[in-house]
Amino acid sequence: AEQTFIMIKPDGVQRGLIGEVISRFEKKGFYLKGLKLQNVEKSFAEQHYSDLSSKPFFAGLVEYIVSGPVVAMVWEGKSVVATGRKIIGATNPLASEPGTIRGDFAVDIGRNVIHGSDSVESARKEIALWFPEGIAEWRSSQHNWIYEA
Ligand code: GTP
Ligand code: MG
Repeated sequence: AEQTFIMIKPDGVQRGLIGEVISRFEKKGFYLKGLKLQNVEKSFAEQHYSDLSSKPFFAGLVEYIVSGPVVAMVWEGKSVVATGRKIIGATNPLASEPGTIRGDFAVDIGRNVIHGSDSVESARKEIALWFPEGIAEWRSSQHNWIYEA
């Protein structure tokens, strides 16, 4: 099944939004397959956002990500990459629809609470980077009440 990498950024952790974020993905019908809270090194944050290294906001972005612990997660389910991005909302929280995480809980683009992989390919890379130890294998007993056979 499809998997995505979701990270609650330092502002989301500091503001007590961990449960809220997890709850939204759980209630949708996705499965939590990996979870850890940790501080990351600058070089690790740079690697995670390496595609953006030429952007003028890159240094500020890295500073933001290392400013406190983050919650790294792997979520699994049908179309979870694209649907996860919908649950998260547009990059700029002032443009995110109400009902999305950024639309409901954020104002500034540099304090937008959460990260989600932008493609199946980036998800694969990000999961390998963040969870080299591997992730859990399990399936909810409610599976057939959420997914058609
Ligand atoms: P992520 O899920 O965090 O990857 O966000 P995204 O995929 O919606 O956007 P993108 O990958 O393009 O940018 C990564 C992060 O860099 C964003 O979530 C913002 O925190 C930050 N960022 C992107 N664009 C800007 C910008 O124009 N200005 C500033 N200050 N930050 C930006
Ligand atoms: Mg991105």
